[in-house]
Amino acid sequence: MPRFARRITQTSAKDFGMFARAYGRPGDLIHLELGRPIEDTPAHIKEATIAALRAGHVHYSDLQGLPELRHALAAKMARENDTNYSADEVIVTNGLTQASFAAFMAFLDAGDEAILLAPYYPQHIGKIELAGARAVIADLDAENGFAIRRDLIEARITPRTRMIVLINPCNPTGRVYSRDELQVLADLAIEHDLVVVSDEVYERITFDGAAHVSIASLPGMRERTITMFAFTKAYAMDGWRLGWLAADQRMIGALMKITTNEVTHVNTFIQHGALAAITGPGDALADLVAGDRERRDLAVRRLNQMPGATCAAPQGTIYAFADIRATGLPAQVVAQRLLDEAGVVVEAGSFYGAAGEGHLRICFGAVDLAQLSQAMDRMQGFFNAL
Ligand SMILES: Cc1ncc(COP(=O)(O)O)c(C=O)c1O
Repeated sequence: MPRFARRITQTSAKDFGMFARAYGRPGDLIHLELGRPIEDTPAHIKEATIAALRAGHVHYSDLQGLPELRHALAAKMARENDTNYSADEVIVTNGLTQASFAAFMAFLDAGDEAILLAPYYPQHIGKIELAGARAVIADLDAENGFAIRRDLIEARITPRTRMIVLINPCNPTGRVYSRDELQVLADLAIEHDLVVVSDEVYERITFDGAAHVSIASLPGMRERTITMFAFTKAYAMDGWRLGWLAADQRMIGALMKITTNEVTHVNTFIQHGALAAITGPGDALADLVAGDRERRDLAVRRLNQMPGATCAAPQGTIYAFADIRATGLPAQVVAQRLLDEAGVVVEAGSFYGAAGEGHLRICFGAVDLAQLSQAMDRMQGFFNAL
């Protein structure tokens, strides 16, 4: 057996053991674990992609992404995210995943430290480790609804800290950070001269008027933030693998060194579909979010009726993060028993770091209303019998 490269430290990107067990099991499991939209991609996006293919847009194109798409993305960010990037400060990527890989590779050296707010998104850790750096976990506090607190983060800063990683709206907690919370993070980043890598994949999935604020729009943050977005969740385009990042011109050269060496550029005709998504009718997006809201309301209402569980309504994302500490059981045990005894697959909050212990992450965006209702019936029966 050949020897693996030393940088291969992380064995899995996901809790594949749980998936394997779940998929291997016969019967009618309801899957509330994968963060995958249930809807189909809106028709006009598919049509634009097919038209581009028919028109012969099948060759190499701009390494940074189609210029017309980058212009549209910069305009969208100016409109919705209160930022002022030019098209030259945008890179189109293969999903948010490639954007984050580029950010970690371009701004972390061996021995550097990147602070993750926990509960965190585990897939970021593997990439930080591939860059030779170390993920340092700042546990946020369940009692405060996992709000950003200066003391909890500042305590984790060392002379090796180069970066803070933010997910806003947050997977798994569903929190949409307020401007004041983001200002706390911005102050820390400026005082300690840190880069902020901001994962905003759920920016458009917010509820009850919660306003998503891009940290790059705060004073002094443009030159130290890499903001990452994707078509993945909001346009139900997860399988298309399409996202983008925005960063100050002085950072773009370093980021391009990673993306061009890695994949050259994103598929040409698919970028035409992305252009249709970003410039097309907004009602498709509104319908998708309305569906998520309806399922969120059902999940939260039903979870709060289960003995041993409580669930605050998430302000964004497609996840409910239910607090099951009252059961006195570890989250992994409850998740495993829900799978074995109720046929419902959810994720243990502890998968997102120790701060998530005592919670279950339930993806209400992954099923239709009827399946979700059935899952909630099964969970109710399980919690009643605990
Ligand atoms: C916080 C977060 N970042 C990134 C991703 C991956 O995004 P993409 O599929 O666009 O690479 C996900 C997907 O679940 C996510 O939840």
